[in-house]
Amino acid sequence: MTDQELIDTARKYREFSYSPYSKFKVGAAVLTKKGNVYGGCNIENSSYPVTNCAERTAIFKAVSEGEKEIEAIALIADTEGPCSPCGACRQVMGEFHINKIIMANLKGDVKVVTLDELLPYAFTDKDL
Ligand code: THU
Repeated sequence: MTDQELIDTARKYREFSYSPYSKFKVGAAVLTKKGNVYGGCNIENSSYPVTNCAERTAIFKAVSEGEKEIEAIALIADTEGPCSPCGACRQVMGEFHINKIIMANLKGDVKVVTLDELLPYAFTDKDL
């Protein structure tokens, strides 16, 4: 699975976005070490903070299928530059040691970063 194929999957899942409040659609897709792909979208709630981001939807789908080893995650939204993941999602990416984050937008801009770049000095299980 290429980075572009993972982005294309995230783009497909973006269409499932449930975002009646923000109208901001986000899609994500994770690639596991076994080679499986799980997609996700943002799912909003009338109680706004209950909203789940696309990245966490995709990660939780993988983990709940027994797949905790994740190679990469792609996310996409209609942003000016490549869409950057929120802080909560970065923390969850850290929990599952996802070290390749592929940020994209609908125009075709792509930026690939590591978790260390997105979340330096992260709080981890080693701190407990
Ligand atoms: N959102 C995501 O799905 N991922 C992010 O990393 C940033 C924000 C969603 C949450 C909410 O539904 C909408 O985008 C606007 O914040």
